[in-house]
Amino acid sequence: MNTHDIRPITDPSRPKVYIETYGCQMNVNDSEVILSILQDAGYALTEDIEQASVILANTCSIRDNAEQRIWGRIDQFKLQKRKRNGVVIGIVGCMAERLKDKLLEAVDLVAGPDAYRSLPQLLAAITPSEPQINVLLSHEETYADISPVRMDRNGVSAFISIMRGCNNVCSYCVVPYTRGKERSRDPYTIVREAEQLFANGYKEVTLLGQNVDSYYWKDEDNADRNVNFAQLLEMVAKISPELRVRFSTSHPKDISDEVIYTMAMYENICRHIHLPVQSGSSVMLEKMRRKYDREWYLERVAKIRSVIPDCGLTTDVIAGFCGETEQDHKDTLSLMEQVVFDSAFMFAYSERPGTLASRRYPDDIPYEVKTARLNEIIALQGRMSLKSNEKEIGKVLKVLVEGPSKKNPDELCGRASSNKMCVFPSRGEKAGDYCEVKVTAVTSATLLCERIG
Ligand code: SAH
Ligand code: SF4
Ligand code: F3S
Repeated sequence: MNTHDIRPITDPSRPKVYIETYGCQMNVNDSEVILSILQDAGYALTEDIEQASVILANTCSIRDNAEQRIWGRIDQFKLQKRKRNGVVIGIVGCMAERLKDKLLEAVDLVAGPDAYRSLPQLLAAITPSEPQINVLLSHEETYADISPVRMDRNGVSAFISIMRGCNNVCSYCVVPYTRGKERSRDPYTIVREAEQLFANGYKEVTLLGQNVDSYYWKDEDNADRNVNFAQLLEMVAKISPELRVRFSTSHPKDISDEVIYTMAMYENICRHIHLPVQSGSSVMLEKMRRKYDREWYLERVAKIRSVIPDCGLTTDVIAGFCGETEQDHKDTLSLMEQVVFDSAFMFAYSERPGTLASRRYPDDIPYEVKTARLNEIIALQGRMSLKSNEKEIGKVLKVLVEGPSKKNPDELCGRASSNKMCVFPSRGEKAGDYCEVKVTAVTSATLLCERIG
């Protein structure tokens, strides 16, 4: 593992790289891997685009509007090129992988998610007439030996990628095409990275994968040393009771009882599961190729709540997938009412070229209907979030301080184990301290708390 400082170096003599990150948490972590690779090659980070000799966007293809945003940004990056000589613009990540040569017409560098080790060579080879591209996907690359350079501001909470790619074929989803085959990272490098973060003052790590429940590390020499996700969770949880462990994303078809029982055994494994349902209609779930139905999903929720009664539950929902009827939509609403998620990411279906759904099913729900259904879903979730938060009133919670509250500098904010955001009066604690608080009032987004003890 490269062992340089885990925070960005500031050396004014180095050429500067500016990085914008879009998309999911995995992309946030990938940008930290990219910075690590570029720092080793002699670059330093800048947060000021005007200072940058290399401008990178780490991009997302999950929905069409995510890509449209990037095209707009590329136009703005080009203004920098006109202002200063020698500025290089690079598009990396999922959109680079999906659009390949098409992007190369607009920028100097295109690199896919498995090509980051080659960034220094690509950058060195760029000339005005020769843009550079590497979009090869790998079956092995996990960047296991690269120690990410952390770009977060408060030094409390960090992401650790435990696997890459995805082997599922959810029919709407572009990720298997942009990120390639699933591969799990050596667990001992994961534990080492978490230990290093803890030694540097971090108090929370989030283990990341598109489907963490299918994490599986095979030891070449000794099958007894194979590691599944529940075992990995335990290994990371044992580093210290002071280090919180989170994870994302769980797949309803794969989340195992072993994982749920492991969570229950360790107080520092946070009581929160992000369990994307996508739809409450078994007909839609079948077409989405999610490999579970409504009943299976509800059974998993019941199991989680029977073992961990106070477990936070959040989800993702897609409105207006191909052929969705009014009844399918109502099934989604009724599932949301039944489960009462704490919060949800909610999207209108966006057809992605090349996916199974785009080849097989017409994107036939009119824009107005999709939007109306999405709005109904969002409104219902607002009520459910409030209902879920109201259940917390009177409870005593242990909160990890993230910093001053944005609205009132005399108050602190931080998350409870369930991942709910809490706000409470400060007694001079700083980011990374734990506080015990009691919930006195709530909004749909926040728990308002008083100090105890
Ligand atoms: N691996 C995760 C999700 C990754 S993508 C999982 O399986 O749950 C994050 C979310 O984006 C998905 O859960 C889904 O709700 C949404 N999403 C993915 N493709 C989409 C599309 N084509 N249109 C709209 N939303 C989409
Ligand atoms: Fe996409 Fe499905 Fe893989 Fe999630 S599990 S990344 S939704 S294909
Ligand atoms: Fe987007 Fe790629 Fe993540 S498509 S959601 S950045 S895996």
